Amino acid sequence: MERHASLLSRSSSHDSAHRKPEPLLPLREIPSSGRLRFRSILGHCLYRRVFIWVIVSLVLGSIALLYSPDISVPGVVSYGKTKLSPTQQDAGHTIVVVTPDASGEGGSDRGKTDPHDSAESTTQHDDAKAKAGDDGAAVKSEVTDEEDNAFKDMPWLIFKHLDGYFHGLRALVHKSNHIPEYPNKTGQAPFPKPSINVHVPKPHPYNPYQHATGVKPCYLDQERRIPAPDIYAYTGLPQHMPDPVLGSYDLLGIRDDICFDRFGRYGPYGLGYSKIRGGVGVGDETENAGSEAVWAKTGQINYNRIDWSKAQERCSAENGHRLLQVDEETEELPSSKQDRVGKKGRVALVARCYQGFKWTEMVILNFRAMVTELALKSGGEYTVHILLHVRDDSLPIWADDVTTQRLLDSEIPAEFHGMVTLWNEPQMKLFYPGNFGDPLDNPSGTGVHGVYRSAHLALQVFATQHPEYEHFWNWEMDMRVMGNYYEILDRIGHWADKQPRRQLWERSSRYYVPEFHGSWQNFTRQVQRDTELSDQVSVFGPVLFPGRQPLRHEQWGGEVLPDSCSFGRDRAQCGVGEAADLITLNPIFDTDASGWVFSEDVTGYDNPSSSQPPRKSSIVTAARLSRRLLLSMHEEVWRYRHTMFSEMFPPTVALHHGLKAVYAPHPIYLDRAWQPLGSAVETAFNSGENNSTSGANSPFDMKNEHIHKGSSWYYHSEFSGLLWRRWLGYAQMDGRGSHGGRGGQGTRRGGKAEESLASSSGRLCLRSMLLHPIKHERPSD
Ligand SMILES: *[C@@H]1O[C@H](CO)[C@@H](O)[C@H](O)[C@H]1NC(C)=O
Ligand SMILES: *[C@@H]1O[C@H](CO)[C@@H](O)[C@H](O)[C@H]1NC(C)=O
Ligand SMILES: *[C@@H]1O[C@H](CO)[C@@H](O)[C@H](O)[C@H]1NC(C)=O
Ligand SMILES: *[C@@H]1O[C@H](CO)[C@@H](O)[C@H](O)[C@H]1NC(C)=O
Repeated sequence: MERHASLLSRSSSHDSAHRKPEPLLPLREIPSSGRLRFRSILGHCLYRRVFIWVIVSLVLGSIALLYSPDISVPGVVSYGKTKLSPTQQDAGHTIVVVTPDASGEGGSDRGKTDPHDSAESTTQHDDAKAKAGDDGAAVKSEVTDEEDNAFKDMPWLIFKHLDGYFHGLRALVHKSNHIPEYPNKTGQAPFPKPSINVHVPKPHPYNPYQHATGVKPCYLDQERRIPAPDIYAYTGLPQHMPDPVLGSYDLLGIRDDICFDRFGRYGPYGLGYSKIRGGVGVGDETENAGSEAVWAKTGQINYNRIDWSKAQERCSAENGHRLLQVDEETEELPSSKQDRVGKKGRVALVARCYQGFKWTEMVILNFRAMVTELALKSGGEYTVHILLHVRDDSLPIWADDVTTQRLLDSEIPAEFHGMVTLWNEPQMKLFYPGNFGDPLDNPSGTGVHGVYRSAHLALQVFATQHPEYEHFWNWEMDMRVMGNYYEILDRIGHWADKQPRRQLWERSSRYYVPEFHGSWQNFTRQVQRDTELSDQVSVFGPVLFPGRQPLRHEQWGGEVLPDSCSFGRDRAQCGVGEAADLITLNPIFDTDASGWVFSEDVTGYDNPSSSQPPRKSSIVTAARLSRRLLLSMHEEVWRYRHTMFSEMFPPTVALHHGLKAVYAPHPIYLDRAWQPLGSAVETAFNSGENNSTSGANSPFDMKNEHIHKGSSWYYHSEFSGLLWRRWLGYAQMDGRGSHGGRGGQGTRRGGKAEESLASSSGRLCLRSMLLHPIKHERPSD
């Protein structure tokens, strides 16, 4: 029996819902949803608006650029504090036009953003035309006026592209012999090709789980015949693989001495073999020498009849003894230390899907990886959910089971049906009724209950209905984890929980650039120094401001700070070991005067002094939120009708109520060799006030945001998709060119023909990292 739940009822009450047993569809019958998508894009007023904006701004942009004076590009570029001319600002304005974190088709639930995104859909050329060799190549794109102008607006385009990402398995070296192409103090990119080994080493099962004893192994099937498989890693990394420029492996405790190729990562989940044998029927058309090693132990697993929801439910039930359980009387998790000893709080990963999303083979592999790595291999610590936004408000999903089942059948592959929770916008109006008042500003022109401005509402309701979870990862469909999901999310969580509260807001407002800051300790010291120098009052505990409203737990005298912060204890230890209420994957910046387009999308804070409440934001809505934070947000909305733009609301509520918010500096790569080493990146990425991302001239200002386009993690990054598809074995335009180059430009590289050459170093092998956004994967998507 299929299980799905709606936000109107606890999932448990829906368990016994009278669904017809639904035969699991074989993969090839996954219906396409093109029809719905078309309708939902043009029918949705936001999209129409965005579309019109894009056109209008492109026209305005071209005009502005036409009349903008020539700006010379010096050899050493300084960003940051330079003021742009009004014309340039206009031009900058038109570039970013719309919004953060609405990564378009195949991406998040929140729409298309950036006109430049279209540059990613490159024209397809003949694979055979791809030439090997480092300067090889056949197809060059023309330099257009637009490219010329972009180059002037984005001086970082002059930096040399890095080649090291694209070296493959036959260039593997041990970490101790690895010389990164960048950052490198003595050598300048690009580096010469590394030497190529005749033999490709063998991959090994990769186990990042550090379990105490007592974990019961979990299986894919009810009969316990198919154990959850391991993924495979290679020891070492391709010679000259660049190091991350923002963030750090060491700091978070993520391994950086191994790498993953496409078969080690996804072969165990069905990449590289046919649908008849239970794979996804994709991947065997790419270069695949030696890939059979990943199936040596388990064989090629037949995924045609797996029910992932049942598999993860069995797993958490069998491991119930090690997980915190809801108290039947209070319907809450125990709060006393005693009751929590030896038990793990459960975490939900809530993937934000929407009606019309296209489930490709790669998306399916990605979900199998999430459930296996997060839920099954962890012994039920995580549970993966799909929160499906039903965009068509006229569907009677709450009234009729047949309608609902039909919707599921057409929207979600059968193997994931049981993980789905439905919601729609009218439902949010029901949960959060009343008149919300006017926002100070509403750049997107959409409703306050809509997903675009208030994506958090559905998650808040989800949290109220799932008391079994202590934390919730809000996740988007167009994110990928190179490497193991559990390793990344677990290490980030542990690190965040260990961070002391003192100057945490100040540290979290900056990118950590190891090449510039040195060790984390040095970084911490610099933050301390800058804070003292600038006479800032460090944020600590709840923030008071005119018009602040108390929450119930505050009125009832509840403590927000943990014991470690009580009087007489060492201040340096305050917050150490306290679970973070919010973990973000980009810095948490002060939006005041930041130039971030949604800074003033604030609703309901009637303020006697008519100034704005203090606000923080973090771009990209992927984040870990605690139950405590989500319930605080919930109360702010239902009780005071306070809300803010999606990226701003969680950090701001945490700020107002003294909760613990942490930016986790996970490794982020750049596609180019920014020079001078360290300081160029620091001035551009921490360009805001007091050496941070906050306030005036923030890197999230519309005129500065473009610096992220060459990074592996930002809502409008061009590099993430390029790197991902090259790694998957598909030829890509390399984004290079005499005028800097952009997504979709340059020379066609990679792919089967190139990877198969004797002179090639083989298929790519990359270290663990988070990638965003991935808008499409295979050439046919
Ligand atoms: C930088 O690259 C050169 C080779 O080009 C190498 O000799 C040197 O050790 C590298 N430096 C670092 C810090 O890796
Ligand atoms: C940290 O700072 C100290 C003194 O400022 C310096 O000597 C040391 O090299 C730095 N460490 C790192 C790893 O950057
Ligand atoms: C930066 O420091 C100044 C004092 O020099 C302070 O007034 C301001 O609030 C700080 N800006 C931010 C965004 O913290
Ligand atoms: C920014 O950092 C530099 C050192 O890198 C320091 O000299 C300067 O005082 C800092 N500025 C502020 C406003 O904190």
